[in-house]
Amino acid sequence: LDYTEPYRPQYHFSPSKNWMNDPSGLLYHDGTYHLFFQYNPASAVWGNMSWGHATSKDLTHWDERPVALLARGYPDTVTEMYFTGSAVADVNNTSGFGVDGKVPLVAMYTSMYPIEQDLPSGKHVREEQQSQSIAYSLDEGETWTTYDAENPVIHNPPAGYEEEFKNFRDPFVFWHDDTQKWIAVTALASIHKLAIWSSDNLKEWSLLSEFGPYNAVGGVWECPNLFQLPVQDEPATKKWVMVLGLNPGGPPGTVGSGTQYFIGDFDGTTFKADDNSVYPGNGTSNWMDWGPDFYAAASYNGLPKGEVVQIAWMNNWQYGAEIPTDPWRSAMSVPRQLSLKNIDGKITLLQQPQDSWRSVADRKSSHQSWESVPEGSTSLESPGKAFKIDLSFEDHDSDDSRASAFAISVRANSAFDQETLIGYNFTSKEVFVDRQRSGDVSFDDTFATLYHAPLKAGADGRVTLQAFVDWSSVEVLGGQGEVALTAQIFPDQDATETRLVSVDGVTQDVKLEIQPLGSAWH
Ligand code: FRU
Repeated sequence: LDYTEPYRPQYHFSPSKNWMNDPSGLLYHDGTYHLFFQYNPASAVWGNMSWGHATSKDLTHWDERPVALLARGYPDTVTEMYFTGSAVADVNNTSGFGVDGKVPLVAMYTSMYPIEQDLPSGKHVREEQQSQSIAYSLDEGETWTTYDAENPVIHNPPAGYEEEFKNFRDPFVFWHDDTQKWIAVTALASIHKLAIWSSDNLKEWSLLSEFGPYNAVGGVWECPNLFQLPVQDEPATKKWVMVLGLNPGGPPGTVGSGTQYFIGDFDGTTFKADDNSVYPGNGTSNWMDWGPDFYAAASYNGLPKGEVVQIAWMNNWQYGAEIPTDPWRSAMSVPRQLSLKNIDGKITLLQQPQDSWRSVADRKSSHQSWESVPEGSTSLESPGKAFKIDLSFEDHDSDDSRASAFAISVRANSAFDQETLIGYNFTSKEVFVDRQRSGDVSFDDTFATLYHAPLKAGADGRVTLQAFVDWSSVEVLGGQGEVALTAQIFPDQDATETRLVSVDGVTQDVKLEIQPLGSAWH
């Protein structure tokens, strides 16, 4: 593969060509990570929604496979699109789809019917109806059979919400050990509610409960994701996390899509958010990511208990179809390993990069440290166009000699009139990504923006930042991973300069490691 076009992500997944949006079915099975995704087989804008497919042994090196679920009717009149969903390995063959001991992989997805029709199952659907359906694969996800005898398996929204039939979508299905049942969470997008269902066989579903609205309720609620995690250092405590997408309605300072989460408990029937995870009346929220380009986050099914890895669509509906990439549009985030930790009396979701990025760390990293970085700029050696940064420094309160802000400038041109800044504001105690002058920002009015997230120094009085820079993105994790900021950038191809910038004063005790990263495509 020659993945060297301008802006082509080197170690983030992107399809070789055409449009991609949400991860739709993240499944680890038999030593292989499957990534299914919303895909348009025809072009680099949204349409003909199908499930694309890629596989990986490590979550960094991907093989793009044939389209798994091709929009029904394509390339002629499309009568059913396959919207976002999820996938499981039905190891006990509860569905009966397994043959000769072969474990069926089962996908649960939203059928979007562009036209009113009678289905083979005898069910009738209206124009633009969204219902939940299933399909299965007996060949490791290469080919799929839709369950036409009964699809859609969840035909209509729950009683009382019949009017929501055009906005009922995105089933996230998983096996719930305690009740020995399949659980699916779906969104009633326009009314900011989630409906939770259970099943013994993935075919017949009953409604258990609903959740929401809480916290951020901008735009629609989509793409729910529910999982359990142990709390670090408290072996007896396990909590459940509900993640969902809002569009539009992301974090303060962003426009378009965003992702929020709730920490709470799920008893097999109801998800109840913890009191300190909901903020009635004050419009705040727990943001998964404070940047503009992290949406439709989904977690892997099939990982060992207690392990949660998420991948998100690294784009935004605000300008997704306008980004200057060709012949593909959109990449996925780096896979993130999630954990929970009690920080200052509050159970907090932490994100760390899943380890497989190390497989592209093929050159030596550079380590540097400064007792004091002077006011102004300090040059660094160019690390190329793809690299990982580990930067830490002492926090301080403002005084005459200390900096008001400290940043590393990346993907800069030699004049530094083009650059992306990743840094910290000592006054507001916020980490920021500034892409105002990051290169091509012309395709959308809202793109040239500085994004920020609250972050306190750690117990050691230091601010710690990790950042993944690729040919068209920056992902920053702050502290122990309690904040993340993801932003696309479209710098000039030869913009490879890097430097430190200490504003209005000095920054103390700075440590910097830069690890150049290679390409995952071969
Ligand atoms: C979110 C979303 C989903 C839907 C899919 C369609 O990005 O709108 O709610 O299933 O995209 O492609």
